[in-house]
Amino acid sequence: MDLYIDTANLDEIKQAHDLGVLDGVTTNPSLIAKEGVDYAQRLAEICEIVSGPVSAEVLATDAKGMLTEARERAAIAPNIVIKLPSTIEGLKACKALADEGVRTNMTLCFQPLQALMVAKAGAFLVSPFIGRIDDVAQDGMELIHQIRQIYDNFGYQTKLLAASIRHPKHMLDCALAGADVATVPFKVIAQFMQHPLTDVGLKRFIEDYQKAFGSQ
Ligand code: G3P
Repeated sequence: MDLYIDTANLDEIKQAHDLGVLDGVTTNPSLIAKEGVDYAQRLAEICEIVSGPVSAEVLATDAKGMLTEARERAAIAPNIVIKLPSTIEGLKACKALADEGVRTNMTLCFQPLQALMVAKAGAFLVSPFIGRIDDVAQDGMELIHQIRQIYDNFGYQTKLLAASIRHPKHMLDCALAGADVATVPFKVIAQFMQHPLTDVGLKRFIEDYQKAFGSQ
């Protein structure tokens, strides 16, 4: 399973990269706005740190505008993946980019037929937003299971990227459901290696050893 970090913050990206298990980065306009930086410049900075896929979202809502932005963003670095909305216009842009060999990440996916359609258009990634589905009292994980089944039924190569991950249980459920990738905020990634019994056990090992042999 691939692990991406969902942020535009360079410090968080560097810290996650230093863990040695980071496979890529996803950004979006809200994350860039939070950093208050130029989108293209930040993408170039991220691509100097991470060699895996870095998702760069377009702001246009029509296919022609999306394609213009996509080509500008794709020129920033070879590992840029163009993030497009899962709309009719996004679908058209996805197909055109797939035909040119440009990888896409189809974002804002909230129902399984969006995932079916973008797979048919040759998307590299599809991003179902599970946390935002949970936010409206529906079941985000159900969407992951449905997309997994559809992709497996027909052998679609589009990678299922679980997005809007809010806590470790989301990550665990996505791993068990066979999501190919999860994109996760840094503070949640840090929680993946935490357990109070690990801390207690480590403390006890050190204390026992020091009691027997003194501190060295
Ligand atoms: O990158 C998009 C997605 O992960 C957003 O997450 O927490 O804003 O719903 P969230």
